[in-house]
Order: sequence, then structure tokens, then C-alpha cells
Amino acid sequence: MRRPEGDGYSSALRTVDLKITDIAFGGKGVARKNGKAVFIPFTIEGELVSAKITREKKQFAEAEVVDLRQRSPYRVDPPCSYFGKCGGCAYQHIDYAHQLEIKTRQVRDVLKRIGKLDDVPMRPIIPSPLPYAYRNRVTVHAENGVIGYFQRDSHRLIDVEHCPIAMEEVNRKLADLRSHDVPDGHYTLRARSGPRVFSQTNDGVANALRDLIVQLMPSNQELLVDAFCGAGFFAKALVGKFQRIVGIDWDRFAIAAAKENATEKETYIAGDIEAELAQVGAVHRTGPSQTGICGRLGSSAPTFDSAKTAVIVDPPAVGLSARLRKTIVDLAPATLIYVSCNPATLARDLAELHSRFKVESVTPLDMFPQTAEIEVVAQLQRSNASTN
Ligand SMILES: C[S@@+](CC[C@H](N)C(=O)[O-])C[C@H]1O[C@@H](n2cnc3c(N)ncnc32)[C@H](O)[C@@H]1O
Repeated sequence: MRRPEGDGYSSALRTVDLKITDIAFGGKGVARKNGKAVFIPFTIEGELVSAKITREKKQFAEAEVVDLRQRSPYRVDPPCSYFGKCGGCAYQHIDYAHQLEIKTRQVRDVLKRIGKLDDVPMRPIIPSPLPYAYRNRVTVHAENGVIGYFQRDSHRLIDVEHCPIAMEEVNRKLADLRSHDVPDGHYTLRARSGPRVFSQTNDGVANALRDLIVQLMPSNQELLVDAFCGAGFFAKALVGKFQRIVGIDWDRFAIAAAKENATEKETYIAGDIEAELAQVGAVHRTGPSQTGICGRLGSSAPTFDSAKTAVIVDPPAVGLSARLRKTIVDLAPATLIYVSCNPATLARDLAELHSRFKVESVTPLDMFPQTAEIEVVAQLQRSNASTN
């Protein structure tokens, strides 16, 4: 059937010659054809390729390499036989040091483009001590006897015997799972046992992330609010710097794990961040009340001096809601540390928080080598706030 003209689609599978000029979020190379952006996976900026257009829309097109005509000096042989078909990794064909440069550039660009933040003080990216064999857990899927990951751009499974970005302990568990007849479903395989709550995936980078936050946090503070605290990974490393710590997470199993070895200074609350943080703001403005967060802090709940209050936020990829951004601006803690797994939503949120806070530093971390994921820590200081 003939499509109506101007609907932005073309069924023709044309082959075109392209020069890759950039690498977009998600890991695809970017080229331009007649002013239109063309996205081509598994390419590197500077490369010349012949590529088959697989999808064409008004604003952009997608293509697959048919012939690599000029290869980048950063191109390496991917060690994994599933690379290209598996939906997990995007960068195994790129030398690790260059992956770090790409991720740094992407963070700087998105802060400028979406966050309207020019000249943010970027710290060097923190690499992963292990570019492979770093994942302490993976989730595989089983369907009709196939056990593995989703294929790239598809909901079909690819059968995976061994995953080179997973730790050997995890691969042993995969081999064990594969040796049984298992029902269809999802299986999370972990290098070690522990409570089934959120935990960072790359131990080496998680430790560097925690150390960075300890380093960025001023000493002799009154109150830390660790929003999205999980089992208290950051809060527990900061006990020595605060008189009181409040961790909030809606996962009650994570909160139970955080409470297990908590000191008297620490209070962990199972609840929604938006509601609970608004109450911290109310304490700050009007003094303790007997309800909500204040009731749970007990009669010793201080009227917080926002000049000695710090907030850490570590939200999921969607970032902070508009309401939460406003609550944080109203609360105006002297220090705000934003841990992000999505630089685009970080940039959107910083654009708004910037009205009340100055961005002191931005540090990318490579929590997920070989993939297009980027972790970022932004350190903010309330404008005109004095710190120790
Ligand atoms: C990226 S994890 C961070 C966990 C912790 N900071 C750590 O490093 O282990 C995000 C956490 O936010 C929690 N979460 C997500 N949305 C929430 C909400 N609206 N209210 C409370 N907790 C939320 C999840 O349960 C999860 O533990």
C-alpha cells in the first residue's frame, strides 16, 4: 500500500556513504545526510561507513553499517561473541580509555544543551577498575528453554552462556541455572547473598562513588537527609560528619536493612520522598511537630539550621519530580549532592535547581563499562551559603 506523502516514513532500504561525527546518548554514532541526523550503532566518530537506512522519519533516520570504509584508531575487537546482537553492551568495539572520553563529552554536552549550564567545573571521570567482569549481579530471562538477555531493539531473547561484563561468580550461577530445566521468567543472579534490595552493581566504582561523596561533604554538619537512601549506602559512610541523619526510601526491605546496624544518630523512614521531604521542610520552617517525620525523630527533633543541613538525592533514571525540585529549592540546604544515573534528567533538574544553588563540581563515573550508561555526581552549594 502506498503511504501518504509527507508522513516521514520511507520503505526504501537505501545504502548511503556517511561520516560519523559524534556518538549520541545510548551509544549510536551520528552522521548527517541532507541535514538530517542518521544514527548508526557500533560506529565511532571520525569513521567513514557505507550504511543501509533501516528506518526513516521526518527528523532522523537509522542505519546499519554495511561496509566500514575508514576505521577509527580507537576501534578494538569486541571480546564477546554476542556483541552486536545482544541488547546489553554498546561500546565493546571502542578502546576503554576512549569510552571514558566519549562519556565525559556526553555529560558536558547535555549539561550545556538541556541544563543551559556552560562551563560547569567538570572533574575527571572515575574509571572502573575492571572494564570487564565487574557486574556483581545480572538479570536473565528464560523463555521456551532459551536463557539469556533481550536482543538489541527487540523483546526476543538471545541465548547467553557467558557474559564477559559479569563477575565470574555470577557466570557460575548462570551456568548452574542453564544446567536445569527452569520455568519461564526472570532470574537475578548475584555474586553474593544479602537482602534483596537495591545495591550498586559495580563494587569498585561504588566504593569510589561513596568515597567521593564523603570527600565532597563538609564536616561538622547538623542534619543529613539521604533521600532515595536504599539500605543507607551513603548515609552510613557519613555518620561521622553529622549530628543527625534521616534516610528515606519507599522500599521497606531496604529500610529494614538500613536499620539493622544503625547508630542512634540514624533514622530510616519507609515512605515516599515527596511527602517525607516536604515535612523536613516544615520542621525547618516552623519547628518540630508531633506528626510525620518529626514525630518519628522524637522529642529531640532539632529545628534544623539549613546552613548546616545537607541533602543527597539518588533518584531512579526519571530524576526528580517537579514537586520534589520545588521542595528542595524551598528547603534550601547548604549542600546538595545529586547522584544521577541519567545525565539528561540531571541536566533538566539542574536547570531548575540552579536558581537557588551553584554547581560546584560535576564528576562522571563509569559504573557500567562497555555499555552506554553514565553515572554522574553533581555537587551543589546553596547560593551565598557559608560552609566549613
Ligand atoms: C538508585 S537507587 C539508590 C539507592 C541508594 N542511594 C544506594 O546507593 O544504594 C534509588 C532508590 O530510590 C527508591 N525510590 C525510588 N522512588 C522513590 C520515591 N518516590 N520515594 C521513595 N523512594 C524511592 C528505590 O526504592 C531505590 O532504593
